[in-house]
Amino acid sequence: MGILDEFDLSGQAAIITGAGTGLGREMALSLADAGCDIVGVGRRPEPIESVGDEIRSRGRRYFGIPGGDVTSSTRVNEIVAEAIQEMGRITLIINNAGLGGTGRGKTLPELTDEDWHSGIESNLYSAFYCSRAIIPHYLDNGGGRVINVTSGWGYRGGRNNFMYPIAKGGVIQLTKALAMTYARDNIRASCIAPGLFPKTDDEAMLEQLGSRQPAGRIGFMPEMGPLAVFLASTASDYLSGETILMDGGSIAAGLTPAGIIPQSES
Ligand SMILES: NC(=O)c1ccc[n+]([C@@H]2O[C@H](COP(=O)([O-])OP(=O)(O)OC[C@H]3O[C@@H](n4cnc5c(N)ncnc54)[C@H](OP(=O)(O)O)[C@@H]3O)[C@@H](O)[C@H]2O)c1
Repeated sequence: MGILDEFDLSGQAAIITGAGTGLGREMALSLADAGCDIVGVGRRPEPIESVGDEIRSRGRRYFGIPGGDVTSSTRVNEIVAEAIQEMGRITLIINNAGLGGTGRGKTLPELTDEDWHSGIESNLYSAFYCSRAIIPHYLDNGGGRVINVTSGWGYRGGRNNFMYPIAKGGVIQLTKALAMTYARDNIRASCIAPGLFPKTDDEAMLEQLGSRQPAGRIGFMPEMGPLAVFLASTASDYLSGETILMDGGSIAAGLTPAGIIPQSES
């Protein structure tokens, strides 16, 4: 077996939340390129159907679950049951769905209970519910993998930015708890921390955002796919509990994201 064979995901099936857009879509396409069948979950039908067309055109099986709100534990249990029924066995779940910006810019006293619940439920409850729902299936079937998606914000605080960093920090801890608890059950948990992968096509804005990063550029969405393939593959069999930053060195540099950009270069 050659080294590249270790990245072959043939025979695997992955549930990906938020698979229809952005990073979730890119990870879904890369996993499919590596041979993995995909269950795409999201609330809106159009993105979930659209990514499905691309995955099927790559020769992979695809099952879309629109109307899949992962902030509802009842719905998450249904989603996982439907996915298992359709695919037979699930070997990976990527807890990617998330919502940035809730209540951002408000001072602490201005934040409402709704802001708090929205930010924490969409980014942390969702990953907890999905992990809890899939683990019994993994235990019954010889193991599986969880990939959580956090953020650079999971590592540090920001000015007047509460729910997102709190929830994303929790996602890092959830990853460690899963890894420790199920280390002897062939269940691996890892976490991806993206840096700045903007969705805008505004060239001037991308240039400006990139110039603030240590790498001098922003991250490009397709760059996330190969990392997901690695974490899904046997090449990472001994990797668990760890969060991998893909941020062009931003957190290492301590500059961004912070809400306050230091002026000094030194
Ligand atoms: N892009 C970045 O720079 C960046 C940086 C750090 C971390 N991240 C993290 O990366 C992940 C993906 O973000 P993205 O940038 O690719 O943004 P995105 O395109 O907005 O992706 C979020 C996806 O999650 C789905 N979603 C949101 N809430 C959901 C819910 N309650 N139930 C089911 N699906 C839900 C959305 O689809 P529907 O609205 O149709 O449900 C959407 O497809 C997020 O966890 C985000 O926090 C992104």
